[in-house]
Amino acid sequence: MTPTVFLTRALPDPVMKEIRRHFRLRYNREDRPLSKKEILRGLRNAEGLISMLSDPIDREIIHAASRLRIVANYAVGYNNIDLIAARERGIFVTNTPGVLTETTADLTWALILAAARRLPEGERLARSGKWTGWAPTQLLGGDVFGKTLGIIGMGRIGQAVARRAIGFQMRVVYHNRHRLPARDEKRLRLSFLPLPDLLRESDFVSLHLPLTKESRHLIDRKALRRMKPTAFLINTARGPIVDEKALIDALHQKKIAGAGLDVFEEEPSLPRALRERDEAVLLPHLGSASLETRIRMGRIVLENLVAALTGKKPPNMVN
Ligand code: DGY
Repeated sequence: MTPTVFLTRALPDPVMKEIRRHFRLRYNREDRPLSKKEILRGLRNAEGLISMLSDPIDREIIHAASRLRIVANYAVGYNNIDLIAARERGIFVTNTPGVLTETTADLTWALILAAARRLPEGERLARSGKWTGWAPTQLLGGDVFGKTLGIIGMGRIGQAVARRAIGFQMRVVYHNRHRLPARDEKRLRLSFLPLPDLLRESDFVSLHLPLTKESRHLIDRKALRRMKPTAFLINTARGPIVDEKALIDALHQKKIAGAGLDVFEEEPSLPRALRERDEAVLLPHLGSASLETRIRMGRIVLENLVAALTGKKPPNMVN
């Protein structure tokens, strides 16, 4: 019998078509996240689940879904899933690595440039009808070219961000759990630094590490105090890696110059104190949001489902 797959949010059309060719597809037809009750209901008799990073797939859901064999997360991050509970039940958990690397690196750069050069403020002024013309002191930002970029987390996305920095003739320093082999450091023109030194020396600090117990609030008050008052914090990884209250205070007290944020501690709710700060450029978690990439992510999800539901090991298992 054709296995049933439950999908919590509609994916781009070409992906929906491909999934339907392989499975009986049950999905959320409304453009909103589902409640836990709705996920539980959707999972009845389902062998496969396609979850989003915004769906907390916790122990209760995993234990209630008696026929479930795979949770295929439509994201590279998988901190939304209780991996231990899934392992206990022999359920595969998979992610979508590789295919969103370049797209997320592009967006990181969009934030670096937007924050440093005050693009959202400029855009608002140009649209406002209140622009009085060019002025020598209008909306002065900071240069990006030739500055120091500090990358925390040197996996695929961190490296793609570093590659782009070569074009801006930047000095790139990084911190990672494991140091890269010397040939990779040379190819990417990277220097390894202990975290406190990276924070002290960087003009842009960009986060590219997964959210884990160890990385939660890695950027706390103390870390922010170490940064230069002219520096920018960029986060396209996961919101809780930054202590958001501490960041708001740091922006307010001008301990750092600004921030470019694509992710937040309690998505989709953003504290008013953050929304009100002009020196923070805020995006609604768009890291992987290009059509090509979202289609590629869907294909990876499908490969994992097909493997798991035909008795094979899925290629992108994370548990
Ligand atoms: C991911 O895949 O983890 C990204 O955050 C999606 O944008």
